[in-house]
Amino acid sequence: MAPNLLKNLFLSLLVVFAAFWVAKASDPNILSDFVAPTNFTNIDGNYFTFVGLRGVLFNNTIPNFKVTKASMAEFPALNGQSVSFAILQYPAGGLNPPHTHPRSAELLFLVAGSLEVGFIDTTNKLYNQTLQVGDMFIFPKGLVHFQYNADANGTATAVSAFGSANAGTISIPTNVFTTGINDVILAKGFKTDIATIQKIKAGLVVPKA
Ligand SMILES: *[C@@H]1O[C@H](CO)[C@@H](O)[C@H](O)[C@H]1NC(C)=O
Ligand SMILES: *[C@@H]1O[C@H](CO)[C@@H](O)[C@H](O)[C@H]1NC(C)=O
Ligand SMILES: *[C@@H]1O[C@H](CO)[C@@H](O)[C@H](O)[C@H]1NC(C)=O
Ligand SMILES: *[C@@H]1O[C@H](CO)[C@@H](O)[C@H](O)[C@H]1NC(C)=O
Repeated sequence: MAPNLLKNLFLSLLVVFAAFWVAKASDPNILSDFVAPTNFTNIDGNYFTFVGLRGVLFNNTIPNFKVTKASMAEFPALNGQSVSFAILQYPAGGLNPPHTHPRSAELLFLVAGSLEVGFIDTTNKLYNQTLQVGDMFIFPKGLVHFQYNADANGTATAVSAFGSANAGTISIPTNVFTTGINDVILAKGFKTDIATIQKIKAGLVVPKA
């Protein structure tokens, strides 16, 4: 009797914790079917349609790695729905440098070319893979990750889904080296000299405010 009771209690707690985890894993719940700006009086199907990706897929004439987002900023109807997309395009040798998404995991689906991908966990272990067309890879929420098109000739295209309408992106090189952190602090932090830090900084474009 007692062991069964304990088992049930344990299972109930597990379910409660799982539900709590799922709830914490997405954007806050909304108390309406959808969220629309108050100045929208005549909402119809157009509000729920995003056409900003037309012509983006299969355009391989891109000089650098390019990300085209369909998140809340571009597609306001995603507000409160805990989902968004991004199209990722890599020219030959193209790199999406190490970065994180603070508010969501990323589920990447490779639709053209090949891609080397990887993420690092909180114990500093690297998990990497080489993907071919049709493969998916999951980057867990908040962890540093990258994608690299090692093919010297061919382009690559991926579609990424996010469990947040506004996953956010922190690009490590830009975040650390272009935001005004003192050279002395960076040199100490990276156990190198100021000249090396300045060389790294010179190669990075300062982000627009
Ligand atoms: C609603 O307001 C936003 C921001 O001021 C504006 O960009 C948008 O065009 C407006 N929409 C309508 C339907 O008036
Ligand atoms: C393809 O992408 C390039 C670079 O973003 C752009 O200049 C060009 O206009 C695009 N071509 C088409 C057909 O959309
Ligand atoms: C993972 O990364 C290591 C170290 O860079 C590399 O040698 C290996 O080929 C990679 N594995 C895959 C499957 O891409
Ligand atoms: C890339 O193109 C060059 C020149 O056409 C060719 O020699 C080489 O084998 C190609 N490499 C791959 C990986 O396809």
